[in-house]
Amino acid sequence: MVRTQVTIVGAGPAGLLLSFLLRLEGVDVVVLESRSREYVRQRMRAGLCEQATVDLLHELGLGGRMAAEGLRHEGFSLRFDGEDHRIALTELTGRAVTIYGQQEIVKDLIDAHEAHGWPVEYEVSDVDLHDLDTERPRVTYRDSDGVAHELDCDAVAGCDGFHGISRPSAPVSELKVFDRIYPFAWLGILATAQPSSQELIYNHHERGFGLASMRSTEISRLYLQVPADEDINDWSDDRIWAELQTRFAVHGEAALNEGPIIVKSVTPMRSFVAEPMRFGRLFLAGDAAHIVPPTGAKGMNLAIADVRVLSRALTELVQHKRSELVDAYSDICLRRVWRAEHFSWFMTELLHIDPYGDDFSRRVQLSQLRYTASSRAASTSVAENYVGFPHD
Ligand code: APR
Ligand code: PHB
Repeated sequence: MVRTQVTIVGAGPAGLLLSFLLRLEGVDVVVLESRSREYVRQRMRAGLCEQATVDLLHELGLGGRMAAEGLRHEGFSLRFDGEDHRIALTELTGRAVTIYGQQEIVKDLIDAHEAHGWPVEYEVSDVDLHDLDTERPRVTYRDSDGVAHELDCDAVAGCDGFHGISRPSAPVSELKVFDRIYPFAWLGILATAQPSSQELIYNHHERGFGLASMRSTEISRLYLQVPADEDINDWSDDRIWAELQTRFAVHGEAALNEGPIIVKSVTPMRSFVAEPMRFGRLFLAGDAAHIVPPTGAKGMNLAIADVRVLSRALTELVQHKRSELVDAYSDICLRRVWRAEHFSWFMTELLHIDPYGDDFSRRVQLSQLRYTASSRAASTSVAENYVGFPHD
């Protein structure tokens, strides 16, 4: 049996940042990740960082590459009826967002771990959590060679995403789950094509929602609303571009630059929260505790906000034997989580075509779009949620 202070399950943005923050405080940490280092570094995810996320990464000295390669955006466009309506984020809120892929943040965090000589155990299997309702939980797992290990710790951080084992390790009767599954998904592509606009375009069209985002000035990231169970194999590159051009057309004219498609995939959309985010000495963070549909671009930002609170709480617990912050952890995080849940749901309902919607829902949706675009009060509300709220 090996003794450590905190076992972190999962090396996505939540687990890696938590490990970084705890290790800066001198806390003893073991990070267990089921995938390989290469897989984790390349996994394609969303790419929008709130101001607070950017500020934190800079504060930690992790913002170098983001400053050089990230794209600061001071607004985005709502496009409907073929016309653009700019939401002037910075003018309305004084803050901005930065386009910088989640996997780039993951790479920066892995590089920082390696530079410090802080290990991450990749390709582990059979991770199992025990005695979570005691002050000395245990974690058993097999390493990449199949050798069994047992960790004796003070706390376990469940940062293993929506499909991980941490949340299911809490007794069912202790967790309340809030869930919404949407009747559509996003088909996403990455293409070697210059973005057609310097800012993101959230496009509402009668054939379905579309989002024009980017990863750099040379690479476009584009999304299309498709039915929930859509098979990616039904979408040839030509069909994808034709549908994108139809939805994004301005006055009937094609409005997107095309180029070779490098990656394509379909992502389901759901909203999900498990409460509380703590059970005994198990603390859930990031996607393990909550999921948002990507329309509000909140997933990674929420994960980062969670672990910022959790790192302080666990440091207090394991270094100073103080439990006030761990006791408050779930309530502190859930306030931000529910704000993001509402905003992501709101943006999703605002922009997508509901296959079960009737004429009334369509009319009120269009009215809400026009109101959001034309009222300073309404666009300020969207802008302040979109750029995100400061940490603490
Ligand atoms: N044992 C060890 N590791 C596991 C296990 C397990 N049983 N199950 C899952 N993992 C790992 C996954 O391989 C992944 O690397 O946990 C990690 C979870 O990372 P993410 O899914 O990226 O979740 P999180 O760190 O909370 O980040 C949230 O990710 O899904 C996006 O949009 C979401 O941007 C948000 C962000
Ligand atoms: C992305 O670039 O992947 C992205 C941007 C904004 C969103 C969702 C995804 O709302």
